Amino acid sequence: MAKVLLIDDEVTMVQMVTELLRNEGHEVFPFSNYSAALEALETQQPELVITDLYLDKTRPHGFDILQKARSLNPPAVVIVITGFASVESAVEAMKKGAFNYLEKPFKIDEFKLCVQRALSYNEAVSENVYLRKQLKKKYQFNQFVGSSPQMQQVFSMIEKVADTDSTILILGESGTGKELVAKALHFNSRRQFAPFIPVNCSALPENLLESELFGHRKGAFTGAVNDKKGLFQEADGGTIFLDEIGTMPPMLQSRLLRVLQEREVRRVGDNVPIYVNVRVLAATNEPLEKRVKEGTFREDLYYRLNVIPINLPPLRDRREDIPLLVMHFLKNKVNNQGKAYQITRRALDVLTAHNWPGNVRELENALERACALCEGGVIRINDLPPILHQHAGKETSDEIAKSPDTQFLMKQGMPSDGPMPGKEVPVATSSEPLRALKEFMRQQEVGYLNRVLSQTGGDKEKAADLLGVSLATLYRKLSEEEAV
Ligand SMILES: Nc1ncnc2c1ncn2[C@@H]1O[C@H](COP(=O)(O)OP(=O)(O)OP(=O)(O)O)[C@@H](O)[C@H]1O
Ligand SMILES: [Mg+2]
Repeated sequence: MAKVLLIDDEVTMVQMVTELLRNEGHEVFPFSNYSAALEALETQQPELVITDLYLDKTRPHGFDILQKARSLNPPAVVIVITGFASVESAVEAMKKGAFNYLEKPFKIDEFKLCVQRALSYNEAVSENVYLRKQLKKKYQFNQFVGSSPQMQQVFSMIEKVADTDSTILILGESGTGKELVAKALHFNSRRQFAPFIPVNCSALPENLLESELFGHRKGAFTGAVNDKKGLFQEADGGTIFLDEIGTMPPMLQSRLLRVLQEREVRRVGDNVPIYVNVRVLAATNEPLEKRVKEGTFREDLYYRLNVIPINLPPLRDRREDIPLLVMHFLKNKVNNQGKAYQITRRALDVLTAHNWPGNVRELENALERACALCEGGVIRINDLPPILHQHAGKETSDEIAKSPDTQFLMKQGMPSDGPMPGKEVPVATSSEPLRALKEFMRQQEVGYLNRVLSQTGGDKEKAADLLGVSLATLYRKLSEEEAV
């Protein structure tokens, strides 16, 4: 069922089409007056507009309706009908964004089919817009946090350059979020529906990396039994992310320079150039200038890559981001009682004081470990990696840390996706009430069974395997759980 706005100065026509559409289950707003229809367009926000072209035989008001309908948000799909059809007006209507143009009198079946097609077209378009928004939101709002001025600067830089085709060099120590920046750039650009292909330049020996990147012809070298497309070709229309670019062997650096300059690749063993439309992003965790000075990195390539650098500061230089990152990582984890994890104020202080040589990745891993070790869903100092204990005094209070008041995502002040755990949970906990050991063990077991099942996606056979019990035992335990 759809909302349909219908405009025609012939009253009998309006009545006939209204009845026909209502019989199909649509909600119809019929008009024979131009200005009333124009007003209703805005108030009703219809999905489909069916408009006559000449409403008073003086001028084609239908075009104004069409334009207005297309400028709605979301735009309505429009069918133009007319008794004075001409090739010019049909072309004009299509140019202005009409979905179809029907000449009166039309056959009922033809009309019904046209309405059906227009509505399914509209549905597909709005679904596409929705998916686009979702995807964008994913990389804009959820993934990337940082309240420090340095990270705010990074976010605004990403916003500025994402939708350009510029080559970008992402700099930062290991674990600072270089790949996340690359993804944010790709998924906020018009290339978002084409591939994003990350390549670690240090992972492969020179000749393998060459054929991975550029492809090869059958017989180009021993073992090349088939033609192979390179990653540049695979990424066509999208983005290639060359990680650890500093380690790229000199011969491949020259080939890369050619791709950047000529926008074409040549497969190994082939002289025919293949045009590719690929945006290149590169990252390095070591200063490239040093390699240029040593003569292991081509200076011309360095300048070509370094047009727009994005610098990710180490975590120890932006400690105000640590509490935010901690809450961000805890947000999506639930403990075996289905509750979000909490962290004591003291443990959060210890995390904030640490130097984090492995940056955000190390912090994320430390939290992963703490979640697995902690009791009652509350992370305390003792659950943190031993190396962190040096910053800690004795934990004397169980005060739970609160989330920072504002959530800083890609852009300061953007709406967040939902409340953070610290806002949902009590600020302070008393120690847990004491219970009989059997009941306690039972509860732990129930929680653990659910956790394993959710990890195996509900696959009981896999779960039983992981738990080291028979399938029958697992079923028995689950039926006991239901009975509890
Ligand atoms: N600002 C941030 N907000 C949320 N998560 C982050 C942030 N920075 C990094 N991360 C997370 O930290 C981990 C490491 O990030 P990423 O892989 O992008 O780092 P990297 O700089 O590419 O590291 P490496 O040099 O080791 O390849 C990832 O799980 C990433 O999601
Ligand atoms: Mg990386």
